[in-house]
Amino acid sequence: MITITGATGNYGRLVIDFLLKKGYQAGQIRAVLRDRSKGEDLMKKGVKIAVGNYDDYNSLLTAFAGTDKLLFISGSDVARRGKQHENVVAAAKECGVKHIVYTSFQRINDTETSPIALVARAHIDTEKQIKLSGMDYTILKNTLYLDGLPSFLGNNVAETGIFFPAGKGSGAFATRSDMAEATSEVLKGRGHENKDYLFSNSESVTFSDIADLLSGIFGKTIKYTDPGNQLFRETMAVAGLPEPVIAIFAGFGAAISQGEFSGTGFDLEKLLGRNPASVKEFLTNYYSSNR
Ligand SMILES: NC(=O)c1ccc[n+]([C@@H]2O[C@H](COP(=O)([O-])OP(=O)(O)OC[C@H]3O[C@@H](n4cnc5c(N)ncnc54)[C@H](OP(=O)(O)O)[C@@H]3O)[C@@H](O)[C@H]2O)c1
Repeated sequence: MITITGATGNYGRLVIDFLLKKGYQAGQIRAVLRDRSKGEDLMKKGVKIAVGNYDDYNSLLTAFAGTDKLLFISGSDVARRGKQHENVVAAAKECGVKHIVYTSFQRINDTETSPIALVARAHIDTEKQIKLSGMDYTILKNTLYLDGLPSFLGNNVAETGIFFPAGKGSGAFATRSDMAEATSEVLKGRGHENKDYLFSNSESVTFSDIADLLSGIFGKTIKYTDPGNQLFRETMAVAGLPEPVIAIFAGFGAAISQGEFSGTGFDLEKLLGRNPASVKEFLTNYYSSNR
């Protein structure tokens, strides 16, 4: 039995759909969700449903019983997920899960000096807990979703150009769908035990590169401006963005400028058996359907 947490989220749903598309039996997949009403479409596909909340240890024990492989999708509540993740790893261990696959994230700086330490902390701690647990593991060091890039570029990027404090830093961003498809390969395949995979693109692009790509897509010059962190924060505040959102955007800008997501590799490509979608392909598709 493959059990998948976060099954009602974007990543979890994609993984389940890829498993089904690749011929994995629906009855051998268990989707863990905290709100049963969100699972109707999954049940219609023949996938088993279990209710489990990262905050409720006992619910996880029930949800994970009889699991061979567990796909543990990291929680979305950044402030609370430290304890939540501890619950998931401990429950998996208590249930005798053989192999745990965890969606972690790409980075170079594991210390509190990282501009995204708040986001990083739970991932780093969870990786350690998993490795100490004695269960077989696969750590997926997911790069930033390309799907999230348009929010850094702004709603009117064709008119305003790019205004983002990423400096000359680059990112090997990849689509969530490609990372989910590769995850389905890890779950249904063999030989992935006790490995860390870097799920990044095989190319790394700067925001100047992205401006050039957008210039081609929009047929006019799109400029990239790096305002620096302080001016970026002030400008976003004047535009009315709430402080926690500004902090996240400024943090990711600083992280990209420091090269946190610049590492490229071929793990994703190997698992997919093809090139991951490029930044150019993604942006072309995105802006042809969102203009
Ligand atoms: N690499 C990146 O660029 C990037 C970007 C954003 C997020 N992430 C991380 O990757 C994860 C997956 O991405 P995604 O796009 O699928 O996110 P998502 O659509 O927000 O899905 C998050 C999933 O986690 C579930 N969840 C949250 N808290 C839970 C809890 N206490 N107990 C049980 N389930 C809980 C949610 O359940 P509900 O449906 O009930 O809410 C949902 O199914 C995120 O949760 C986050 O940790 C990565």
